Amino acid sequence: MRYPFWRIGVFIAAAIWPLLWLYQAWADVLGPDPGKVLVDRLGQGTLVLLLITLSMTPLQKLTGWPGWIAVRRQLGLWCFAYVVLHLSGYTAFILGFDWSQLGIELRKRPYIIVGALGFLCLLALAVTSNRYSQRRLGSRWKKLHRLVYVVLGLGLLHMLWIVRADLKEWAIYASIGALLLVLRLPPVTRRIPRLPAKKAPSARKA
Ligand code: HEM
Repeated sequence: MRYPFWRIGVFIAAAIWPLLWLYQAWADVLGPDPGKVLVDRLGQGTLVLLLITLSMTPLQKLTGWPGWIAVRRQLGLWCFAYVVLHLSGYTAFILGFDWSQLGIELRKRPYIIVGALGFLCLLALAVTSNRYSQRRLGSRWKKLHRLVYVVLGLGLLHMLWIVRADLKEWAIYASIGALLLVLRLPPVTRRIPRLPAKKAPSARKA
């Protein structure tokens, strides 16, 4: 296992936030509606992890350090774990497990449909993120994993729909997302000065 310290660091840094927020909810410091705050923070965590995952390839190209790619899959899986927690939080704290309310909820909060589409795309990416799927799907694997940009678009649209009046945070996420997209465009990629590549890690390439 290459870069074990980095992997452990990523594990701790990603796992600590939901635990901290749960503790804060339990300690009653999240205001009058802790469930809603928890859902919001987990949603934002999903988006942040998505952006961090997408920045791994440009960082590897810029620095030549292969460790970025070694932790990319782990970060992507954490992004999926956060969205599962976000969805679970919604089901428990907002829907109250009352499935009969789902139809009314969808009419009241249509942005949930956009979030659900993003969730389904992340699910497809998570279940095919292993070596076996990579081998079986061959060149189609890379095409499928471009869905990550669709998730980014859906996640940003979902958030925009919710925050409408206060666009500051959304604009930061959207600008970083746009920059990462531009960095993946072939004419831009070709211009990025490549540092000599160091020895490749054992982690799978995407
Ligand atoms: C089935 C899937 C999903 C459901 C049911 C869902 C539901 C929700 C709900 C109900 C809220 C707002 C809570 C409130 O303030 O009243 C929310 C917020 C949020 N969601 Fe989702 N979501 C889903 C998927 C996603 C995905 C895939 C992303 C990102 C890629 C995401 C990112 C966010 C963000 C960033 C917010 C916070 C907005 C803020 O700052 O207030 N959600 N979600």
